[in-house]
Amino acid sequence: MNLELVEHAAAWRSRLDTCRAKGQQVGLVPTMGALHGGHMSLIRRAAAECDVVTVTDYVNPLQFGAGEDLASYPRDLERDCRMAAEAGAASVFAPAPEEMWPEAPATTVSVAGDLANTLEGSSRPGHFAGVTTIVAKLFSLAGPCVAYFGEKDFQQLAVVRRMVKDLSLPVELVACPTVREVDGLAMSSRNAYLSDHEREAAPQLYYALLAGKRAVEDDGVDDPALVQKAMAESLGTQPLFELDYAAVADPETLQQPNRITAEVRLLIAARIGRARLIDNVAATPPGPETI
Ligand code: PAJ
Repeated sequence: MNLELVEHAAAWRSRLDTCRAKGQQVGLVPTMGALHGGHMSLIRRAAAECDVVTVTDYVNPLQFGAGEDLASYPRDLERDCRMAAEAGAASVFAPAPEEMWPEAPATTVSVAGDLANTLEGSSRPGHFAGVTTIVAKLFSLAGPCVAYFGEKDFQQLAVVRRMVKDLSLPVELVACPTVREVDGLAMSSRNAYLSDHEREAAPQLYYALLAGKRAVEDDGVDDPALVQKAMAESLGTQPLFELDYAAVADPETLQQPNRITAEVRLLIAARIGRARLIDNVAATPPGPETI
């Protein structure tokens, strides 16, 4: 396998500095490991667009709340390295927790305001500060690069985009579409928590989004509350799910519009068994000519 496994931050930084000194563009794909087809699509895209691709594989404790799944989060570094190599990565940076944080950080990076405090931010207090702190640190270690993020975590992408803009970080962000299983379930490391029975039921999360999308696009529903109701009712047909939120949001601010007059993002989060799953789709209201 032609892939370098890097465990030390200083070695990773100097390896990427050397690449840039040779004129190579560095592609960065931050992950928490347990790689699947969604991660692979990011790595493949980075490999197609950059000279050298590095994947980070680090389960970041800062972004897990008390009682969440930090301890049980799936880990398999050997398999991750094989998959990353197959998708075209040159290196995997997999630091031990004490390498990343020799002492608990006194400095954190957080995006203030509604963008990071609504939806996931409100269900998982502190989560996005944990994400932005680790991502800022990874960007700092990696240096100027093109970083690939999935639309699967739509709010994370928006929050990271805002951090990069506010702090003028030397990173170009690329958003990649959500990769799904054949039955529509968005690929996620947390799908591993599902029993066979739950796995069979899980695509209802996506169908609920599609019910909302149909309401907007086919029925011309422009009241966000009615679209939310359509999503909640669709999810409710699968009793294994417990809805956390079903939201209609402006794609940039993530605020709920008063009326749906332009493209919106439909976002959903729900628990099934011991998993908490999230997903989202775009929905565009019919133009004036089609109403
Ligand atoms: P993780 O959940 O491992 O996801 C890593 C990247 O893969 C994220 O950008 C995520 O949006 C993307 N991804 C996950 N599932 C996807 C799918 N089905 N289709 C397309 N892309 C998908 O997100 C994190 O890790 C962490 O918060 C991290 C950014 C690494 C910071 O710790």
